[in-house]
Amino acid sequence: MRGHFTSTPSMQQIRAAVAEEFDQVNELIIEQLHSDVDMVENIGHYIVDAGGKRLRPLLVLLSAAALGYRGRDHITFAAVIEFIHTATLLHDDVVDISSLRRGRPTANAQFGNAPSVLVGDFLYTRAFQLMVGLNNAAILRHMADTTNTIAEGEVLQLVRAGNPDTAEADYLDVISRKTAVLFAAACRGGATLAGRDEATCDRMEAFGLKLGIAFQIVDDLLDYTGDAATMGKNVGDDLTEGKPTLPLIRTLQVGSAEQQAVVRRAIENKSADELDAVVAAVQACGALEYSQDQAEAYYREALAALDGVAEGPCRDALMEIAHLSVHRDH
Ligand code: IPE
Ligand code: IPE
Ligand code: MG
Ligand code: MG
Repeated sequence: MRGHFTSTPSMQQIRAAVAEEFDQVNELIIEQLHSDVDMVENIGHYIVDAGGKRLRPLLVLLSAAALGYRGRDHITFAAVIEFIHTATLLHDDVVDISSLRRGRPTANAQFGNAPSVLVGDFLYTRAFQLMVGLNNAAILRHMADTTNTIAEGEVLQLVRAGNPDTAEADYLDVISRKTAVLFAAACRGGATLAGRDEATCDRMEAFGLKLGIAFQIVDDLLDYTGDAATMGKNVGDDLTEGKPTLPLIRTLQVGSAEQQAVVRRAIENKSADELDAVVAAVQACGALEYSQDQAEAYYREALAALDGVAEGPCRDALMEIAHLSVHRDH
């Protein structure tokens, strides 16, 4: 895979467990971007060719393989999950007014809001076309619910934006819906395809959910600690949107009166004008460590959910993805 996020050695090791299938997923993604409407193909390729970590399709492939799946449907399902993820990114960058993604100007910055939203819709609906081809009612039902929940999560986040009184539980609710349910569906789908019993499917879903929560907490941390060149997206975007993410929520709980005041003001004004002061506040009151600790607690819960899965290279790779998700710089 080319693009901004080429592999770190450990990501390469993880992919090695399902290397052939991973290449087939990427081929299917390219094939399924096809449209006789030029703009659809151009914008679709623009975001897909930029790369991305492809974590979610890897979760599908590894979950299925870890549970002994031998067919080909996991290739299709992995492409479905990545299409849904990519659609949410196109929409999310419009909503967040973001200008950098995967090391390039966002599609909204490059082509405009309307084309981004509409091509996002194309990817969403292409995912469902592909899914119908799987002829698996359990997966179709679960993905209908999952995508509906993601949409609710993004709306809920919009409602909470600018509200410094958002509780930690509300934040966890938002990130579970907008991010973690897709990780969960990726893992559950692998187990469903492998024909596993309900308890095993539930366990894989729990793994994905906990991992997804940890992943988003780290994403929210990186928005204050990261570096745009490494992340391929801008830092401070969350503050501009007035998003009450965990580092800010924690500062509002334990920070000094002055630290709380600067954070409260930034959230209410939806402004990154005082980004440096906000970063200093979240740092000084221990909110960054707290957030990292929370991510690691969810990481441990994720690992615990894998306890009943037979040992082997695919289970190891799932554990590695989880580890990498909480110790990443992009
Ligand atoms: C970005 O997801 C959106 C979030 C849920 C934070 P990724 O960090 O997996 O994005 P790509 O696909 O690697 O670009
Ligand atoms: C991403 O949330 C969630 C979805 C795409 C549904 P963010 O807004 O934090 O993701 P980035 O930081 O833009 O990738
Ligand atoms: Mg965003
Ligand atoms: Mg973010």
